[in-house]
Amino acid sequence: MIHTLQGKKAIVISGVPGSGKTSTALLLSTVLGALYVNLSTLSAVSCLLESYDGSRDTYIIREELLVNLLNNIISNSNTPVIIDSHYGELVPSHHVAVVIVLRIHPEELLRRLLKERRWWTPKKIAENVAAELMGSCTNNAITACGPEKVCEVDVTGLTVIEVTRKVMNIIKGVSPCVTNIDWLEHHISTEVLEFIAKYS
Ligand SMILES: Nc1ncnc2c1ncn2[C@@H]1O[C@H](COP(=O)(O)OP(=O)(O)OP(=O)(O)O)[C@@H](O)[C@H]1O
Ligand SMILES: [Mg+2]
Repeated sequence: MIHTLQGKKAIVISGVPGSGKTSTALLLSTVLGALYVNLSTLSAVSCLLESYDGSRDTYIIREELLVNLLNNIISNSNTPVIIDSHYGELVPSHHVAVVIVLRIHPEELLRRLLKERRWWTPKKIAENVAAELMGSCTNNAITACGPEKVCEVDVTGLTVIEVTRKVMNIIKGVSPCVTNIDWLEHHISTEVLEFIAKYS
């Protein structure tokens, strides 16, 4: 196991929907020979979806049972476990080696969601772009695991291979683990700001 994991097995790939978690986590798990776990899929196939919240267009998960299941999976795995989820804070923090938060410029995210998630309401798209603008996933991860385990990777304009290489460099200790992305310091087009204001 890579020494920077310090005996802990879970590598959490977080980020807002559309940031590229699944694409990156799948490639990373192949490169590392790690077990890949998608929390949404795991919840669904394990019958841990409690109910559907129509107002938020999302499923409510039976969190306690999912945490128990994750504990078992991670404890019994002989390899690192890559957790793919935007609610990775459910992973028991004593198992977590690192949380990699994929950050994507809100303009690229809006473009991607409008193209790829045509069935989403504008409200859901706007809320997720706003969440990225505000750094919600990073804040949630820091609250759950503490600042030292949380690292951001700017994926804007990068291919999945380039993103995976950046993540590998953090895991290997070649690149520093930092959280320093603040989109509010960057230029955000009025198109994005107006979309958020209109629909969220
Ligand atoms: N680095 C990238 N460059 C260009 N397109 C990408 C990149 N990474 C992912 N994509 C594309 O963006 C879309 C969303 O990617 P992906 O499904 O991996 O995101 P996700 O974070 O797992 O989303 P969700 O939370 O909804 O599962 C996909 O169509 C994927 O092909
Ligand atoms: Mg995904």
